[in-house]
Amino acid sequence: MSTNTVDNTRKVTTRRLVEMKHRGEKISMLTAYDYSSAKLIDEAGMDVILVGDSASNVMAGNITTLPITLDQMIYHAKSVMKGVKRALVVVDLPFGSYQGNSKEALASAIRIMKESHAEAVKLEGGAEIKESVERILSAGIPVMGHLGLTPQSINKFGTYNVRAKEKEEAEKLIADARLLEEIGCFAIVLEKIPAELATQVAQELTIPIIGIGAGGGVDGQVLVMHDMLGINKGFSPRFLRRYANLSTVITEAVQHYISDVKSGDFPSTQEQY
Ligand code: KIV
Repeated sequence: MSTNTVDNTRKVTTRRLVEMKHRGEKISMLTAYDYSSAKLIDEAGMDVILVGDSASNVMAGNITTLPITLDQMIYHAKSVMKGVKRALVVVDLPFGSYQGNSKEALASAIRIMKESHAEAVKLEGGAEIKESVERILSAGIPVMGHLGLTPQSINKFGTYNVRAKEKEEAEKLIADARLLEEIGCFAIVLEKIPAELATQVAQELTIPIIGIGAGGGVDGQVLVMHDMLGINKGFSPRFLRRYANLSTVITEAVQHYISDVKSGDFPSTQEQY
């Protein structure tokens, strides 16, 4: 196989993602929270599946990612793992399971790895969570960082607006990214920051930088499945490209079914025993 051909059968590992960056192959990443979607996404050839704490919003209907618990994340991760053969599966450590106490952070990460069999964890933040990241890494658990707009800190930011537009915040983001690489993270998600800043980080660091609302100069892209499939109608930030309009497809199919039930058209004689 030539080095330019995408191998859709070989298992994706953290090491392979770094190799992809070095040969200029972009990394695809998408969220999944359940067995059936994860199976479809994996079979379609996705490189990384993120069991994101966005499950708090799109699965549980919460306004923020803060309420989701470690037990709930493990439930989602276990379901996803049953459907995935090839993609690397990364699981978000939820709010309150790692900040401020590195022993608790390690215990949370170990529970995810042991109970779900996922392959890596993702944590939001830079210098302030250094000790937690280091302790998790020391147990041999791969860590993906997450900088820029970090939704678990929404109450500190007060808005979901673009981050790091000002010099001081941009400098802190660059320093945090360098730190995460230095201590051993295998990749970093950069969320909703200026494209120029994200490109600069991706060019300087040797580990893959995956963007969401961070422009095209990074090493890969991640989106929330419900947003890109148009299941979630009310959310339309500039960075989001909709690849389907499933809310309309689902509503029309469900209305068709209701009308067939009401009219007696369903079931037909061929659909009974
Ligand atoms: O939880 C999530 O879905 C995420 C992505 C937005 C990167 O963290």
